[in-house]
Amino acid sequence: MAVFLGVALISGLITMVGSSLLPVGSWDSHLHIIDTTRYEQTPDTGSTVIHGTVWENTLFETSLGCSHVVIIQPTRYGNNNTATLEALAAYGPKRARAVVQFDPETITDAELREWHALGVRGVRINLANSKNPTSNTPPEQIPGLVRKYADKVRPLGWVIQFFISMKDIPLIEPVVPTLGLRVVIDHLGSPKLPNTTTCHGLDPYAIEGFSSLAKLLQGGSTWVKISAPYRSVSNQTTSSDYAVLDPLILELLRINGTKTVFGTDWPHTGYETLDIHPWAHRLVNLVGGDGKLLDGLFRDNARVLWDAE
Ligand SMILES: *[C@@H]1O[C@H](CO)[C@@H](O)[C@H](O)[C@H]1NC(C)=O
Ligand SMILES: *[C@@H]1O[C@H](CO)[C@@H](O)[C@H](O)[C@H]1NC(C)=O
Ligand SMILES: *[C@@H]1O[C@H](CO)[C@@H](O)[C@H](O)[C@H]1NC(C)=O
Ligand SMILES: *[C@@H]1O[C@H](CO)[C@@H](O)[C@H](O)[C@H]1NC(C)=O
Repeated sequence: MAVFLGVALISGLITMVGSSLLPVGSWDSHLHIIDTTRYEQTPDTGSTVIHGTVWENTLFETSLGCSHVVIIQPTRYGNNNTATLEALAAYGPKRARAVVQFDPETITDAELREWHALGVRGVRINLANSKNPTSNTPPEQIPGLVRKYADKVRPLGWVIQFFISMKDIPLIEPVVPTLGLRVVIDHLGSPKLPNTTTCHGLDPYAIEGFSSLAKLLQGGSTWVKISAPYRSVSNQTTSSDYAVLDPLILELLRINGTKTVFGTDWPHTGYETLDIHPWAHRLVNLVGGDGKLLDGLFRDNARVLWDAE
């Protein structure tokens, strides 16, 4: 309780003194609560000590201007959602949503309903990080795996979130429209860019898998997170270094801006010293002339995707 009141007080103070470029009521649709000193991580998922608690996240979010958060189950906690669920409970369902991970063979409907009541609204299928069991699914078994997850979460209307390399998006392209559920794809679809020093003026359709992502976005049930640019481009130190991604982001916004949500990927695992503020501000400038697009990307679309008021 004391911690909760403290968090509320601090965020109130920061909101009063700070000024943000982001729309009032913005959502960070992708962050992780990781505290390796308090919650044990699954073996072989990294050795760095990471300290990204609710308290620290609150300070970060208020400095950026986000009042709502979506806590995403990180790779290093596998199917043990304890840290994510405790963080969700600390934030409360008015300010937060969460996306969990589970084994579709063993999960019970009662557990899913319990999590739903806490504010969970999605399951993450991790096909991109080899430390995660589902990442090693042979390509021909991926549609079957996806259907299994969809059958579990369909009664609750949850979102299926994919962490998947862009080159692999064609593997899910046929199954996604058959699920009868909404899907969100992490981190701009995790494109592998050509040599970043030479690709200003990038044609996104030249990247393997981008056309599949574009078709899914046009189809209407797929959303994409505008997040973690540093995972697509290397050695980014200033906001202008991210310029290389602008054509890709603008194309996603052009295809359907209402299907995009902003995320920080805090605490930026593997890039812990990174400051995401310059990129967030770059993004504001990129869409800033269009108030509706801006409000959608940072707030309104998230409310729809995550089933919030
Ligand atoms: C999940 O993680 C928590 C926190 O580290 C731990 O107490 C619990 O035993 C874990 N549960 C399982 C089933 O491993
Ligand atoms: C990227 O481009 C630069 C400049 O043309 C070149 O020096 C470098 O070797 C290239 N790197 C790769 C991995 O192709
Ligand atoms: C990264 O960028 C900095 C600043 O522009 C530069 O000094 C450094 O050499 C770059 N590192 C690599 C690995 O490209
Ligand atoms: C974008 O998606 C919304 C909601 O599904 C839809 O109403 C709208 O027509 C779409 N816009 C375009 C340009 O396809």
